[in-house]
Amino acid sequence: MQRRSFLKLLTSILGLSALGAFIYPLFRYLLPLEKDARAQAVIIPKSSLPVNTTKEVMIGQTPAILINTRDKGVLAFSRVCTHLGCLVKYYPEKQLFICPCHAGVFDLEGNVVSGPPPKPLQKFAVKVLDGNLVIG
Ligand code: FES
Repeated sequence: MQRRSFLKLLTSILGLSALGAFIYPLFRYLLPLEKDARAQAVIIPKSSLPVNTTKEVMIGQTPAILINTRDKGVLAFSRVCTHLGCLVKYYPEKQLFICPCHAGVFDLEGNVVSGPPPKPLQKFAVKVLDGNLVIG
């Protein structure tokens, strides 16, 4: 292989790698994670989630949080931030979810309060059946 051909090939490979490194995060940003709708229901005893407590669970492949509020009952949200997929943390004293990656903030309804997230947090249905919570 000629030196010139080798340099052209090397430049092409590096250029494609740089392009991929730019396009992948852009693609992830434009198509936020919401395809995990294959979530399966989770069943836990209602007594295991007293009022004013939280519990982190997996609903299918989705990390989720259950919050038993005094006013609104049991709420269930995906912990996956709708911006780039980091896991949000719930702050009960503020009743807010805050994403540690880019400071996205969501309220107790899952709505975006501030920051870059384009959509609310995914909310799961919660039913009470025979003393159990059925989520998802
Ligand atoms: S990933 Fe949550 S704000 Fe960016």
